[in-house]
Amino acid sequence: MANFQFISLLLTTFFLFSLCTSRDTITLDAPLTYGDTLLSSGGVFTLGFFTSNNMKYLGIWYTQIIQQTVVWVANRDNPMLDSTGILSFNTNGSILQLQNGSAKVFWSTSPLNRVTTVAHLLETGNFVLMDNNTSIISWQSFDYPTDTLLPGLKVGLIMGQPRFLTSWTSSDNPSSSNYTIKLDSAGIPEYFILDRSKRVYRTGPWNGCQFSGEPEMETDSKLTFVFVSNPNETYYTFYVNDTSLISRLVLNQSFLQRYVSDGSGWTLYWSLPRDQCDNYAQCGPYGVCNLNSSNVPDCTCLAGFTPESEKQWDLRDTSAGCIRRTGLNCTSDGFIRISDVKLPETTNATVDSKVGLEDCRNRCLKNCSWTGYSNLDVSNGESSCMMWFSDLVDIRQFNGGGQILYYRVAGSDVPAASNAKKKERTKSSFELAWSLAHERDGVLDEGSRSQGNLSSLPLYDVNVIFAATNNFSPSNKLGEGGFGTVFMGELDGGNRIAVKRLGNFVNTRPR
Ligand SMILES: *[C@@H]1O[C@H](CO)[C@@H](O)[C@H](O)[C@H]1NC(C)=O
Ligand SMILES: *[C@@H]1O[C@H](CO)[C@@H](O)[C@H](O)[C@H]1NC(C)=O
Ligand SMILES: *[C@@H]1O[C@H](CO)[C@@H](O)[C@H](O)[C@H]1NC(C)=O
Ligand SMILES: *[C@@H]1O[C@H](CO)[C@@H](O)[C@H](O)[C@H]1NC(C)=O
Ligand SMILES: *[C@@H]1O[C@H](CO)[C@@H](O)[C@H](O)[C@H]1NC(C)=O
Ligand SMILES: *[C@@H]1O[C@H](CO)[C@@H](O)[C@H](O)[C@H]1NC(C)=O
Ligand SMILES: *[C@@H]1O[C@H](CO)[C@@H](O)[C@H](O)[C@H]1NC(C)=O
Ligand SMILES: *[C@@H]1O[C@H](CO)[C@@H](O)[C@H](O)[C@H]1NC(C)=O
Ligand SMILES: *[C@@H]1O[C@H](CO)[C@@H](O)[C@H](O)[C@H]1NC(C)=O
Ligand SMILES: *[C@@H]1O[C@H](CO)[C@@H](O)[C@H](O)[C@H]1NC(C)=O
Ligand SMILES: *[C@@H]1O[C@H](CO)[C@@H](O)[C@H](O)[C@H]1NC(C)=O
Ligand SMILES: *[C@@H]1O[C@H](CO)[C@@H](O)[C@H](O)[C@H]1NC(C)=O
Repeated sequence: MANFQFISLLLTTFFLFSLCTSRDTITLDAPLTYGDTLLSSGGVFTLGFFTSNNMKYLGIWYTQIIQQTVVWVANRDNPMLDSTGILSFNTNGSILQLQNGSAKVFWSTSPLNRVTTVAHLLETGNFVLMDNNTSIISWQSFDYPTDTLLPGLKVGLIMGQPRFLTSWTSSDNPSSSNYTIKLDSAGIPEYFILDRSKRVYRTGPWNGCQFSGEPEMETDSKLTFVFVSNPNETYYTFYVNDTSLISRLVLNQSFLQRYVSDGSGWTLYWSLPRDQCDNYAQCGPYGVCNLNSSNVPDCTCLAGFTPESEKQWDLRDTSAGCIRRTGLNCTSDGFIRISDVKLPETTNATVDSKVGLEDCRNRCLKNCSWTGYSNLDVSNGESSCMMWFSDLVDIRQFNGGGQILYYRVAGSDVPAASNAKKKERTKSSFELAWSLAHERDGVLDEGSRSQGNLSSLPLYDVNVIFAATNNFSPSNKLGEGGFGTVFMGELDGGNRIAVKRLGNFVNTRPR
């Protein structure tokens, strides 16, 4: 016992000692030589030289995690062979460079437009070059990510500059592999995992809470996910709100993985793509991928569509997808609804955040080029109209938690059953619009394979709805839709619901 205490005291002393003697900056007259390290002010990250597969690299890793986890590499594609590396400023402080003993440059920043005298390793893991007098940053490692997204690092498009992750070639070779995860900003932005230019996986668009293809990715009390899109920048990042937790996102070969740690080892939180239904366009245009209960992908065509080639389809070659049973004639087309889906590729889609779902449908009907519509921003009630003007590609259906898609078919392919349902709905003056708790729609589900059965839908007594919404109290009001006002309510069981009150309107239009 005494021995143990002595050893731990020794270790503590050693640790404190190393903290005291370590530094977090490089200056003009104090470069970093091989064997030296920088330690961020609170000790979370270390910058220094590491060896992998007998090659020497300059990188940043977590100080306290025993299994060395490198989050950034300067010279990933230009390793050094010997131990003579030195990281220093050039004479006037306009460039930071990594050289070996004979002044061969292995890595450098681009020439900076202002004299920089200090390089700091921050507690966030960001290595920044700044003007010591003004603290204005002239260069930062967060602008040149390797394979790891740390909290606060932005991946996407920043002032026109793409920022993306590229995985290591193998676990002991940091050199750039062919796999990247990049933002495609065409249409409605979404991220793709790419093998060179070939698409491997698509996250789906951000729906205000999460990416459409990742319904399990919910913000919890520990992690906050952020997606920002404005004319200057479109990016994703995250924050860890629990100080006892460490988390990183890494592109590991062709897999995007989130790891969490309490400071010792790492736990894999999730990994994407998670199954074959996540493979990009697994079932081709207008095909829907479902996993059967033994996790085997099963492609079906959207209702109103049929396999492009029955023969290929039977051989499980579903890449050509599906074609319409009946061509569109534009004047009498209708929409079929499918729920719990990952929304189709949005490269050729647009969004108008000021338009509700009903007007969205009308807009979509007016122009024969539009193939479908949906409500993108689920965090914001029914507002935000997204419409597609190309084939609908890469749809998968989840067992719950996805979104609702309305897609265009010839009027004659709209199932007769849904007309009957429509009539029934006109009689009802209350509509259970959706359950906030589950993001699931409680209304008629015309096209869904998994929930097409009307009898399985919950029916509520008007008095229950009155009680749940506090007699439609103005303080429960969530917003106005095309046909009435939406109120928030809470059922006895604690489930939060949203109720649309149709008021004096009688809903006679097909939906
Ligand atoms: C720093 O020196 C380089 C030549 O070594 C020169 O090209 C560059 O303009 C100088 N930069 C500044 C900001 O003075
Ligand atoms: C620096 O690197 C070059 C190229 O790899 C090599 O030829 C040279 O011997 C190295 N210098 C030292 C001092 O290791
Ligand atoms: C940077 O500024 C701090 C405080 O202002 C000072 O202590 C330090 O010596 C300066 N470093 C350099 C390289 O000028
Ligand atoms: C920073 O401030 C010091 C002292 O105030 C001054 O001598 C130096 O020129 C300044 N450096 C820059 C880059 O402005
Ligand atoms: C990238 O792909 C090309 C072509 O398939 C292949 O020749 C090359 O070896 C790949 N690179 C890596 C690092 O795997
Ligand atoms: C975009 O950048 C410009 C120039 O830096 C700035 O004036 C503007 O406020 C920025 N807009 C947004 C939405 O951040
Ligand atoms: C989590 O942290 C981020 C950034 O520090 C902050 O913006 C956000 O409000 C925090 N969220 C919670 C729930 O505390
Ligand atoms: C990549 O995944 C493997 C397991 O498949 C894991 O051992 C390794 O640590 C991961 N790499 C990173 C950088 O997290
Ligand atoms: C899933 O599909 C595979 C391949 O068609 C089939 O062999 C298996 O029996 C199916 N499992 C279930 C539970 O339907
Ligand atoms: C479209 O189809 C409907 C129903 O089949 C038919 O009544 C209508 O005349 C058609 N319109 C055109 C322009 O073909
Ligand atoms: C229909 O929408 C497409 C795609 O936005 C557009 O190119 C076309 O001009 C529109 N047609 C009409 C008649 O508005
Ligand atoms: C989107 O439009 C581009 C250019 O018209 C086309 O090459 C691409 O195939 C379209 N994407 C889809 C999913 O149809």
